[in-house]
Amino acid sequence: MAHGVTVIAIDGPVAAGKTAVGRKLAQSLGFAYLDTGIMYRAITWLALKNDVPVEDEAALGDLARTSPIELVGTNSDHVSVAGHTLGPELRESPVDRNVSVVSKATSVRTEMVAQQRKIADQSNIVMIGRDIGTVVLPDADLKIYLTASPENRAKRRWQEMQDRGQVVELMTVLSETLKRDEIDTGRENSPLKPGEDAWELNTDGLNIQQVVQQIITRAENL
Ligand code: DC
Repeated sequence: MAHGVTVIAIDGPVAAGKTAVGRKLAQSLGFAYLDTGIMYRAITWLALKNDVPVEDEAALGDLARTSPIELVGTNSDHVSVAGHTLGPELRESPVDRNVSVVSKATSVRTEMVAQQRKIADQSNIVMIGRDIGTVVLPDADLKIYLTASPENRAKRRWQEMQDRGQVVELMTVLSETLKRDEIDTGRENSPLKPGEDAWELNTDGLNIQQVVQQIITRAENL
């Protein structure tokens, strides 16, 4: 690894395993960890709370710029924004339903990207999201694009929801997953796509430990 701070970027669609893999990877390497999705979720929560219409790009931008996000703890479970400490509520339906729309806003993305770059300057880090290797940190030491089939991703999400006590049909989760893919890949600003120099890693049939091990092997050869 050539310079002072080492950065590993992990991108990919919803429920490809980014969170579980990123967390474990960061733990194994002793790196910081940031799941950037939580930042878009926090702005979405704040917009809903303040009755800011999620289609109002200018108002969302103002909100994002005036409400810097602070990370609480080291595992991206909680953040603090505008005096609110937020955790599980960021994973609930109102935020889930609106976050794709909020994260389409260029004004919001510009602010989130600036905040994320500042964080990446501070220490070795595993950062996960949709645009980390392509936009936020194009000079990352290792860029990974994690994928899995829509069916496997929907199953994974459905299981996570079950574990949280949310009752929902698998088919509903599958159709929501496909809908979110469409929004995330179709948006004008930073659409979700593998960077040209990203390593595409399909996690179908692999467990978390196997995926992490493959990444560590690559990281060791940087
Ligand atoms: O990974 P997640 O489900 O917590 O992400 C929530 C939303 O935020 C999702 O619609 C994609 C968006 N997002 C983004 O556009 N860019 C990122 N770097 C991270 C998340």
